[in-house]
Amino acid sequence: MSVVVRNPKPEELATVWEVLCGAFGEEPRERFRRQIWEDSTFAVEQIRIAEVEGKIVSHVWVAERPVFYRGQAILPMGGIGGVGTLPEYRGQGFATLLLEDAIAYMERKGHAISMLFTGINPFYAKLGWADFPEWRFRLKVQNLPDENEIPEGYFVRPCELEKDLPEIRQVYSKHIRGLQLSLCHARPDNFWLDGHPQYLGLKPSHVIVKERGTRDTGQVVGYVCAFGTEQGIRLSEFAYDPEQPKAVVALAIALAKEAKADDKEGVIEGITPFMHPLPQVLASLTDATLWHQVSEHMMLRVINLRQSLEIAAPLMEKNLANAKAENMSGSFCFSLSKPEQVATIEVRNGKVKISDKDSASMKVAVTPREFFLLFFGTVSAQQWSHLLAHKGLVLDEQQIALLNLLFPTHSSAYWGGDHF
Ligand SMILES: CC(C)(COP(=O)(O)OP(=O)(O)OC[C@H]1O[C@@H](n2cnc3c(N)ncnc32)[C@H](O)[C@@H]1OP(=O)(O)O)[C@@H](O)C(=O)NCCC(=O)NCCS
Repeated sequence: MSVVVRNPKPEELATVWEVLCGAFGEEPRERFRRQIWEDSTFAVEQIRIAEVEGKIVSHVWVAERPVFYRGQAILPMGGIGGVGTLPEYRGQGFATLLLEDAIAYMERKGHAISMLFTGINPFYAKLGWADFPEWRFRLKVQNLPDENEIPEGYFVRPCELEKDLPEIRQVYSKHIRGLQLSLCHARPDNFWLDGHPQYLGLKPSHVIVKERGTRDTGQVVGYVCAFGTEQGIRLSEFAYDPEQPKAVVALAIALAKEAKADDKEGVIEGITPFMHPLPQVLASLTDATLWHQVSEHMMLRVINLRQSLEIAAPLMEKNLANAKAENMSGSFCFSLSKPEQVATIEVRNGKVKISDKDSASMKVAVTPREFFLLFFGTVSAQQWSHLLAHKGLVLDEQQIALLNLLFPTHSSAYWGGDHF
């Protein structure tokens, strides 16, 4: 049996669509249509297919999804989607073959990391992807806040996308920058209007407006993508201008009301960066108990360790300068188990140098999960040292203090509409 791995031709895209539906079933048919024809980031070169005796039997998509790092730098990221093999061709290594090919493509494209979402994590772990936590919240409004708790000068109205989009885009970037979020998609402007992300949840429903004189001359200082559910509402994305923290209060009150409208139970749920002010304020204003759920359906893979650290290096230097820690020095050599890669960080006189030398004073053998937990600030360096202690790794206080400056804890989020 001869297998050909290649890109489809543009005229084969309708067949590719049918193969996807053959592998995943009919339910996501519309989603796949939009992925191919209504996503402005889509290009035929991102699709790899396996062909057996002239028939397309397996498919992988590497979506172009650059993501923010601490709200200030951008990591080129390849999003793996649509991994599917027709039922009668499964178990013969086609998906594995295409994923290996996708990794080579991402290396050529200069992607620093890769992301995917799955329920069969061990399958992808064999190829170097590692589970990464995503936070969801849920609460049930107990008491509706008083109207007079709405901050003066703020109001919430339905979004009018065409009119509001320029300001929404600005709020999106300010929010990511101000809260120093990682993993949020660095969206091209057109993406906001594409049918594919809209279908997945990128559909602003409400905007928070701060009045400037009259209501008509207000400025958009926040937005949310909210969808009605049987019990209340679900949020697939939200953001506010961090210089306007009262926007969160105005939004929380509007959402609480909506979740209780039409005799609904008042359940508000959704994805969130961990410890984001919105769920916190929502719970405190409505006397609700806030529940969090951590899922590990997201997986991340290092494509280029050195490049990832190089992109982060200017932010590391900024942190050293802000903390007046230019006198701190040290070096760490990260030796990653999957894919096998080595990179060294050397800190001296406030400067951070990244290399692939293998001669640092501290050598740290890490799994991809351990690396990402530190790199994306999910854990503090202190917590991280405990996670690695069972391997015999001992970090002294100075090393922990330095790692905390290089990799400060922060939150991350990947919003619903950016999926692939
Ligand atoms: C998952 C899927 C893409 C694998 O395709 P394939 O061409 O058979 O893959 P390979 O032959 O390279 O590898 C088969 C591996 O899939 C894994 N796998 C498949 N389905 C699985 C499941 N439901 N749970 C856990 N592992 C599963 C097996 O572990 C197997 O690994 P093994 O070879 O070590 O036994 C295919 O089963 C499929 O199309 N499923 C439906 C769509 C889907 O769920 N895609 C994944 C979305 S994240």
